[in-house]
Amino acid sequence: MQRPTFIQENISLAELTTFKLNVVAEYFGNIATTDQLAAAVAWAKANEITFFILSGGSNTIFDGERYEGLVLHIDIRDYKLLDSYDDDQILEVGAGEDWDEVVARSIDDGLSGLELLSAIPGLCGSAPVQNIGAYGREFDQIFESLDALDTHRNELVQLGKDDCQFSYRTSIFKSTARGRYIITAVRMRLNRRAPDPPTYKDLVRYFGERVIGQPTAMQIREAVISIRQAKFPNPQQVPNVGSFFKNPIIDREHFERLEKTFPQINEPRPGWSQPARWFLPNDQVKIGAGWLIEELDLKGYVHGHVKVDDNHALVLENTGQASSKELLELRDIIVQRVYEKFQIKLEVEPDIVSSATSKPQA
Ligand code: EPU
Repeated sequence: MQRPTFIQENISLAELTTFKLNVVAEYFGNIATTDQLAAAVAWAKANEITFFILSGGSNTIFDGERYEGLVLHIDIRDYKLLDSYDDDQILEVGAGEDWDEVVARSIDDGLSGLELLSAIPGLCGSAPVQNIGAYGREFDQIFESLDALDTHRNELVQLGKDDCQFSYRTSIFKSTARGRYIITAVRMRLNRRAPDPPTYKDLVRYFGERVIGQPTAMQIREAVISIRQAKFPNPQQVPNVGSFFKNPIIDREHFERLEKTFPQINEPRPGWSQPARWFLPNDQVKIGAGWLIEELDLKGYVHGHVKVDDNHALVLENTGQASSKELLELRDIIVQRVYEKFQIKLEVEPDIVSSATSKPQA
């Protein structure tokens, strides 16, 4: 089977990932249609070539300097208002649409539902993969359905909410069906009503200071952007992938031991509006990973060309010519030190990809 003409050889991925590690893909294809996608996957499978789907590159770290296999960059565009039911409106977007442009456009179209998820870097196809969330809104709350290429059966399928098995920052696409589906379109259920007033502390404070009782979706978007800008470095200026670790969830007993030794966990740190722990159902407690790292005095810590951000300890950044080796070493240092001090095992939030782990499963 001949290589499709849109697949090129030896392409650098540095500009396609927000951490900007210099990684070269053996083969690379920019995918604008589902037909191209099917052709690329068929070629890779016929030739037993490993393939990997690169979306916005804002949540992906390659663990070496070369990716032996095929990297497919999803560039499928579409923005369509579909059916509406009472106040609800279904919005369908191509997996290659920029997430934040879709958020902005949906608000311009008079829709609410996405405003709390403003300014999250990445493309729409990634939103379900990691079930993105911010400021009290999780993606699965507005998810309707998606289309994907099932690479096992070589056919396009539609998956609903139950199929996707969403939970905190994960889904079937990151766990049991990893590597199987390639998302091509996403449908969300938005609505035409005014949004509910936000409950996340930073936003409550923002609107309290401005005496705005019933903020519009646009005002909430502006607030989220301004809060994020103050806390998270801009990936356009400082290469990073947002939160590098997930917020760990521990049981109540573990938390009670923790708060005895570290009673400060129940107080917000200077500059933050809430304590870094959230009580969940089933006697579980979510702990702010940023708090744990800050507690180790690692803010601003430098390892080679990788650094813990000065403002938000959950963010690691590339100060120049960082290698993935340095980044993964810094990850190990943080994981080990957090474990020694708190007996909490931090998990990495972005996808760490190596040619060896992303073999096609069929
Ligand atoms: N904190 C610190 N020091 C820090 C950072 C945080 O003490 O350096 C404590 C503070 O007490 C703060 C609390 O942690 O109040 C929570 O911080 P923040 O509101 O920034 O939220 P986060 O839990 O650190 C999560 C998401 C972000 C999302 C924000 C806002 C994860 C892993 N991260 O961060 O998502 O934008 O909430 O809702 O769930 C991402 O996934 O890449 C991401 C940026």
